[in-house]
Amino acid sequence: MTQSAFPKDFLWGGATAANQFEGAYNSDGKGLSVQDVTPKGGVAMPGSSSPVITDQPTPDNLKLEGIDFYHRYKEDIALFAEMGFKVFRMSIAWSRIFPNGDDEQPNEAGLAFYDKIFDELAKYGIEPLVTLSHYETPLHLARAYNGWANRDLIGFYERYVRTVFTRYKDKVKYWLTFNEINSVLHAPFMSGGIVTDPEKLSKQDLYQAVHHELVASALATKIGHSINPDFKIGCMVLAMPAYAMTANPLDQLAVREFENQNYLFSDIHARGKYPNYIKRYFKENDITINFAPEDEELLKNTVDFISFSYYMSVAQAHNPEDYSTGRGNIMGGISNPYLESSEWGWQIDPIGLRLVLNAFYDRYQLPLFIVENGLGAKDVLVEGPNGPTVEDDYRIDYLQKHLVQVNEALKDGVELLGYTTWGPIDLVSASTAELSKRYGFIYVDRNDDGTGSLARYKKKSFDWYKKVIASNGEALYEA
Ligand code: BG6
Repeated sequence: MTQSAFPKDFLWGGATAANQFEGAYNSDGKGLSVQDVTPKGGVAMPGSSSPVITDQPTPDNLKLEGIDFYHRYKEDIALFAEMGFKVFRMSIAWSRIFPNGDDEQPNEAGLAFYDKIFDELAKYGIEPLVTLSHYETPLHLARAYNGWANRDLIGFYERYVRTVFTRYKDKVKYWLTFNEINSVLHAPFMSGGIVTDPEKLSKQDLYQAVHHELVASALATKIGHSINPDFKIGCMVLAMPAYAMTANPLDQLAVREFENQNYLFSDIHARGKYPNYIKRYFKENDITINFAPEDEELLKNTVDFISFSYYMSVAQAHNPEDYSTGRGNIMGGISNPYLESSEWGWQIDPIGLRLVLNAFYDRYQLPLFIVENGLGAKDVLVEGPNGPTVEDDYRIDYLQKHLVQVNEALKDGVELLGYTTWGPIDLVSASTAELSKRYGFIYVDRNDDGTGSLARYKKKSFDWYKKVIASNGEALYEA
């Protein structure tokens, strides 16, 4: 009996971000992005000290060379095609196109690079899914304007998206406006290019920056649809379901407050206006969003689909100080005693993915897209019958369990466009800037100290994912 409920045109694939794998940080006219000055150890985690924002790339920063996709894209895309990818999520590095962010004219060499990538993907019938801004604000916009805290960023972003929408209108159909747009509340520098020390950044300024990004996202949706009405433009949020630590109603209220902070972003993208619950939060925190006359109308340009990353869930309580908290993907929470954690302390919860899918679909009745999911783990390279490989059964186990829950959600009636695992090829971690936190089906020979040949090797999970795709999910149920 068939168990798979995946639709026949389901978009299977993998997801990346330019700053974490392209390398070539200053080639062919590219300007610096906020990632190029990221200190080793990363800056993403709440509470991590503010980086010293210089105009010089940090010398030991692994992101500068990444895994050199910039020069090895043909080999890498051929490997994705061999796995049977239908879609490939990638970002355009804004500072390849507008090196400073506020330039009048785009950099032709940067535009030509992405033409080559899209043409290579087309050769294999792989659909690109492009993130317009994935934690890589041009550094000059951070240093000279304080990033998204400044309304001028809307105009610079508009020029950039208009340029790439026009250039690639016949090559790209699926677009995401901002990666994990809700993360700016927790990582204002990495996510929003805001250089103000997080401890000194007022809630007023932070939510004003959020507003600028939300208006820019709606504007991009409007412009994109006018350039090509067939474009499918989505928002992208970091999804993290929360469970009440106890049946105490106060704990359930804590869950609601945590979830509202995240729903704020998808609600505005899907419904075209601020929800009422946030008005109370704004009032109680002395926040008054400064709306330009056009903003209310602009926000009404709602998205075609909702996309999200999902790695983990958390627990919440009204008295969090009484519990131990775990590490997590940008925003953390209380450790849930029912769940196990990854080597980096992220709590593994496949059922949470089914819950998130149902929650989003019930709320919006819009198509969904899982654009990140996966396990960051330390891999050991061993000699196999066909050369070096990794016996990554733990990764297969993680992905298999999550995909089974996706299948359950499909049976629940959720409409899902596709699924892209995070980092189908090993790349540099966003939060900790390490290479030893690996997600890929393809091992890349590069180490945390920067040594390594950059050679690519297929892991055991490579053949597993290939079978899952070829069987459209049926292989998930093979013993
Ligand atoms: C998401 C980001 O938060 O998680 C990615 O969109 C990131 O850029 C991914 O790489 C995994 O996180 P990390 O810190 O393990 O790389």
